[in-house]
Amino acid sequence: MYDEKVVAEAQAIHKEVYGVEPTTVSYAPGRIEVLGNHTDYNAGTTFSCAINYGHCFCISKSDKPGIHVTAGDVRESYEFSATCDEKIDSYWANYVKGNFYYLAKDHGILVDGINCTFLGSIPMGAGLSSSAALEVATTFAALTYAGKEIGKDITKKDIGILAQKCENIFAGCSCGLLDQFSSIFGVHHGLIHSDFRSLETYPVKLPDDAMFLMINPHIKHKLADSPYNARRQSCEKAAAELNALVDYDVAALRDIKFEDFEALKGKIDAEAAKRATHVVWEIHRVEDGVKLLADGKIEAFGQYMFDSHGTSRTAFENSSDGQDIVVDAAKEAGALGARLSGGGWGGSVCALVKADDADRISEQVIATCKAQGLEPTIEKIVPSQGAQIIK
Ligand code: GLA
Repeated sequence: MYDEKVVAEAQAIHKEVYGVEPTTVSYAPGRIEVLGNHTDYNAGTTFSCAINYGHCFCISKSDKPGIHVTAGDVRESYEFSATCDEKIDSYWANYVKGNFYYLAKDHGILVDGINCTFLGSIPMGAGLSSSAALEVATTFAALTYAGKEIGKDITKKDIGILAQKCENIFAGCSCGLLDQFSSIFGVHHGLIHSDFRSLETYPVKLPDDAMFLMINPHIKHKLADSPYNARRQSCEKAAAELNALVDYDVAALRDIKFEDFEALKGKIDAEAAKRATHVVWEIHRVEDGVKLLADGKIEAFGQYMFDSHGTSRTAFENSSDGQDIVVDAAKEAGALGARLSGGGWGGSVCALVKADDADRISEQVIATCKAQGLEPTIEKIVPSQGAQIIK
């Protein structure tokens, strides 16, 4: 399953711009983060799912050298070589260029002499990982165009790592692997439980009567310009200071035992301890969440989502007024859980609801938010399959 509309439109734009049908077409979805906030770069674990919106990337052969790329929505184009690491002064072009660059540099797969078009249906700046979806769609298409078999010539994990490197170096955000893994390993009507130490992902079934709403308060965010990188440094500082206080190895916050953290947090740098509190508790919530979902205890799982938003607000300080209003409104309307989804400082809220309550809760949330000056939009999320080659 994929967003057929965006795939059809992308191919039509490609034909219009370059005069030929694309020979290679890929699709990669965005994601919602369900539980496990800022745990990925701390070697922790998460719950997430790929969503029913994504990016489509099309390629056809060109008679000129270089890579020519057009953003289908704004009809803006750039031309570059896959061997050049110079960044482009553009909001989107580095996400594409970086993937071609690392394919050539790290994997010896040099793609050249092509025309490309991409188009996405994921709202930009909504915290739904439109950039990761673009990176993954780019790499899937580039590999297929080069005659490589995904999963055989290059593993899906390595594609995720390549896309993350592009984000880290070309886009300047020291993000973890959550967004790329969610886009790659998504499963239809299920969650993905990812472990960022072993780099394994496990599909987890969602109860049939539960569903997610994605509530976008329309507060734009861009992680590269946020305190994201500073928060990562605080977490690393906390791990290093805790490591000196215990007799086992704390290479990352994942390693500190929950009781030891609680006993020792007063002895480390106060700001680092505050940030780490959110992460350590999140890792603990995800661990427990696995059991809760297995036992069908969806209400208790939802409560962890509220708790997660609570420590985002008070300890990690990555929420925003708009997201707080939405979470409170969702709680009041009877959602099982709700929390900011992704990096934070703006972006969407993900709410867990009983499917039968979805319309009523949506209406109530919109009314409550309007009374507080917000104009949120709400979409029902269909947990979707990960990235794929369409042709
Ligand atoms: C962003 C990053 C991810 C992850 C989340 C927070 O989405 O890209 O790597 O750190 O924030 O959990």
